[in-house]
Amino acid sequence: MTLVDDRVAVITGAGSGIGRTTATTFADHGASVVVADVDAEGGRATVETITDDGGEATFVETDVSDLDDAQVMVDTAVDEYGGLDVLFNNAAIEGPVARLDDYENDAFEQVIDVNLKGVWYGMKYGIKAMLEDGGGSIISASSIGGEVAVPQYSGYGAAKAAVGQLTRYAAIEYAEEGIRANAVAPGIVRTEMIERTIEEHPEMEEQFEETEPMPGLAEPEEIANAVLFLGSDLSSRVTGVTLPVEGGYLSQ
Ligand SMILES: NC(=O)c1ccc[n+]([C@@H]2O[C@H](COP(=O)([O-])OP(=O)(O)OC[C@H]3O[C@@H](n4cnc5c(N)ncnc54)[C@H](O)[C@@H]3O)[C@@H](O)[C@H]2O)c1
Repeated sequence: MTLVDDRVAVITGAGSGIGRTTATTFADHGASVVVADVDAEGGRATVETITDDGGEATFVETDVSDLDDAQVMVDTAVDEYGGLDVLFNNAAIEGPVARLDDYENDAFEQVIDVNLKGVWYGMKYGIKAMLEDGGGSIISASSIGGEVAVPQYSGYGAAKAAVGQLTRYAAIEYAEEGIRANAVAPGIVRTEMIERTIEEHPEMEEQFEETEPMPGLAEPEEIANAVLFLGSDLSSRVTGVTLPVEGGYLSQ
């Protein structure tokens, strides 16, 4: 079954981890994918994987915290594929692991620039393109850290909480025009982001393994499938929600 046949999807941070797996999942389900990432090597590798499998994808080098880049990213979807149906605001950085008073000012600003402003910029231009084209579905990556306080992640968590709120605003402001907006809140997912953190803080590995009530870490596919649901017509009446994909963590 192909769930997003002939749809056009822009996926930010698609050069790695959850974004890459979501890009290949959408392509497998019939979408043309614009792979947007600040990392050209990673982004091109994702495109190659998709095209080698017979899918359709284009890379556009994008820093989501740059307003002009966000515009070019959306324009690429319109120019290459004729419009925009799905936008997954996935790109983010983890920032430092530090208590609030030790969290460097520059690091806080960088996390807010990428993880919050980047989502707002994507929404701003993505919505304009979707309004031209009868609507669409916006999904943004939040986190359990946006729903509850996870110690030593104040900048990251604050940005992710705001992503949930931006999602609600986009949902109600454009509901009549056929645009849905939702977010996903993963727990701990086996990606480069988590590998980097474990490398710097080996003591956190065991903690990560035990975070979710369901055993072990989530695989990127488990998040990509939730994004596919939100990006397809299977979720046609779902808007404004942040869908937890965290093995039960938030139910505790
Ligand atoms: N891995 C987890 O455990 C986890 C948990 C909860 C939420 N998330 C969220 O899921 C999303 C994806 O995370 P991941 O684990 O796949 O991370 P990752 O580090 O593996 O991939 C992130 C990608 O985003 C790109 N990126 C970073 N800054 C960018 C920028 N300014 N512009 C464009 N691209 C940029 C990177 O180059 C990379 O390709 C993020 O929003 C993250 O916060 C991840």
